[in-house]
Amino acid sequence: MNPSLDSLLRIVSRDEFLKAYKLDEPLLVHNPINYLSEITSLPLLSSLESLINSWPESVNVYLPGINDEVNSAQVDKQEAQKLFKDGFGLFFDDPNRFNEVIDTWLKAIHRDLGLSQLTYSRSLIYAISKGHGTATHFDQNINFVLQVSGVKKWWLAKNNMVTNPMTRFTLGSAIDPELETYLEGEIPKDMPSDALEIELKPGSVLFVPRGIWHKTEAQSDAISLNFTYSAPTWIDLLTSCIRANLSQSPSWRATADFVNDPILCLEAEHNLNDLMDELKKELNQIKAHDILGATEFKPYE
Ligand SMILES: [Fe+2]
Repeated sequence: MNPSLDSLLRIVSRDEFLKAYKLDEPLLVHNPINYLSEITSLPLLSSLESLINSWPESVNVYLPGINDEVNSAQVDKQEAQKLFKDGFGLFFDDPNRFNEVIDTWLKAIHRDLGLSQLTYSRSLIYAISKGHGTATHFDQNINFVLQVSGVKKWWLAKNNMVTNPMTRFTLGSAIDPELETYLEGEIPKDMPSDALEIELKPGSVLFVPRGIWHKTEAQSDAISLNFTYSAPTWIDLLTSCIRANLSQSPSWRATADFVNDPILCLEAEHNLNDLMDELKKELNQIKAHDILGATEFKPYE
């Protein structure tokens, strides 16, 4: 099979997908169980035992309390297997580093989404035992979940607390200070009551839009593979371009001296105002094409 977004979503066209993508709506496709067997039958995914045996490094495990990566630790493989039996969720970072098939799919989906070259593409394997799952949270990334084995329930709900979050947040954990500055609504106490409830079976693929609330619960021991994409915002593209430009100037590279000196701070302010005047002139010249040309490939070369 040719690794691509179309292949992953089988019966959903790219146009249909883009409709959901632009509206931040989840999309679920139930593929036949063996449809993506070139991925699901890999030793890394064919069973928990096989995964643990072929995994070359330590494993992340959720700690007691909130089931979330902010509350996790790294343990060795034997310990991980024991903890899984005791009901602790495991996750395995970036299996694409060790497996070419996963790496090829990860890159193909990135390509087909047309995402920036500055995107952080990540793959993750989750092994969650029956009755356990992940706590209610949202992510800053775009996520595709392939259910490899077992059945997992997902709850997904619109995020009225914030649009386009730039960091993830899990209910019950500390909120990122920057995220807190641009909240639009209250932090909910729990998963919103109008959440969509769905069930992923072996072969199912779920698109989880950036920023949507979600939580999961495995109905049986379950393994899933995630392809996640933390893509830059317009802020990131603009600031990378401006930084690249300003770093060519010795005056902008100068130490921000005396900004906290009670007397010389006036000199500091004066210096910065001069630099800002220069920057404003330069910003008038910069076009989108120049910004994208600094970070992206075609058609900006
Ligand atoms: Fe998530």
